[in-house]
Amino acid sequence: MIKRLKVGIVGTGTFAQAFIPLFQAHPLVEEVVLSDLDEEKLAGSARKFGIKTTFPSLDDVCGSDVDAIAIFTQNWLHGPQALQAMEAGKHVYSAVPSAITMTEIAELVKAVQQSKRIYMVGETSYYYPHVIYCRQKYKEGTFGNIVYGEAEYYHDFDGLYEVFKRRGGHDWLKTAGSPPMHYPTHSISQVVSVTGARMTHVSCCGFVDLIDDQVFKKDSNQWSNEYSNQTALFRMSDGSCCRINEFRRIGNYGERLNLFGTKASFEMNHAGAVWVEKRPAMAESLDHLFKTSARKPEAEDGVFHSTEALATDSYFYGTAPIHDTSRLPIEFKGLNNGHKGSHQFLVDDFVVSCSTGVLPPNNIWQAARYLVPGLIAHESSLQGGKQLEVPDFGDAPARLSDL
Ligand SMILES: NC(=O)c1ccc[n+]([C@@H]2O[C@H](COP(=O)([O-])OP(=O)(O)OC[C@H]3O[C@@H](n4cnc5c(N)ncnc54)[C@H](O)[C@@H]3O)[C@@H](O)[C@H]2O)c1
Repeated sequence: MIKRLKVGIVGTGTFAQAFIPLFQAHPLVEEVVLSDLDEEKLAGSARKFGIKTTFPSLDDVCGSDVDAIAIFTQNWLHGPQALQAMEAGKHVYSAVPSAITMTEIAELVKAVQQSKRIYMVGETSYYYPHVIYCRQKYKEGTFGNIVYGEAEYYHDFDGLYEVFKRRGGHDWLKTAGSPPMHYPTHSISQVVSVTGARMTHVSCCGFVDLIDDQVFKKDSNQWSNEYSNQTALFRMSDGSCCRINEFRRIGNYGERLNLFGTKASFEMNHAGAVWVEKRPAMAESLDHLFKTSARKPEAEDGVFHSTEALATDSYFYGTAPIHDTSRLPIEFKGLNNGHKGSHQFLVDDFVVSCSTGVLPPNNIWQAARYLVPGLIAHESSLQGGKQLEVPDFGDAPARLSDL
């Protein structure tokens, strides 16, 4: 009989609100418990979701009998907290990014090997409709050989002041101006999760910020970072090249992928997405496959949202025709989703992996391939764009029992 899990959600802030009901509804989850350093937030979430057991901090959850811990804390805390949870013998789900330094990610890989626990990064781009489509086409071999890819994550800081003030408190400037390439996973994963090729070398340029709000200033953030936008060119292990943009000052928004093969290509922009073949020359619109049933929640219903999210279509609360919802538990039907239909798939991946011991697609080795190229790209921009080698931690085993 498959063991049902006890899951501890750590961090009951804005993002966790969208995930708590999904963990609660999953048939392989027996109980969900909550933790937050902020007593008021914790009590509010416990009341809202009818949860009886709460803990004042991650330390207490680690000492409890939960099987798994899902981390939804501030982005710079994930690495050390995931390590702590695995050392306590728990399976770990972590919101992105998995870590912010090479040391942290190396420690996480080692911790998975030693603890033989599931680690999964909740990379929302992995289940974006266009990424699923490209993965399918790549698997069929329809692209031919990949020659070039470009992916981007545009999130202007106009929509981030409130987020970073909330996350960072009175010292928010210390963490707000992090190098854009330290949060590269939404863009890099769009290419790496499709082709399976890894990034081997990088040359990156940084755009020195022009706006005088103290965010991207050398003496205000802990990285002494002055770049608000970074553009990197990568050499890939399959011989192709890939350009990644991580922009925080930009008159644009969202994630986007263009992928070019010797036989066919995929292109997208805000006007739509097309599949292009050279012989016979054709360009087919894919919008019908990607359009989600965008059921946007009311502002007061507590499900993840922000004024920015409500103002754009980039969060898409429903699912798209390309999403294989038949693989999801029936209990998820009608529940809110988020980030273009990805949340339900991510929760299901994690819970099923913990129960079966089969590694999820976004395991620690893959998480490293989404993150490390960005960390090295930032180093390259500090060295005037010098081409640097990207270290790799190897391929993931299929199952925990293979470790
Ligand atoms: N598309 C995506 O993948 C996506 C989108 C949004 C947010 N995120 C990620 O989600 C994370 C959470 O974002 P948010 O906006 O909800 O943050 P938030 O600041 O609203 O919430 C974080 C909470 O974690 C709590 N916390 C911190 N340390 C703790 C500890 N040791 N024990 C218990 N609680 C602790 C804080 O008290 C806070 O309430 C961020 O790291 C962000 O990167 C990812």
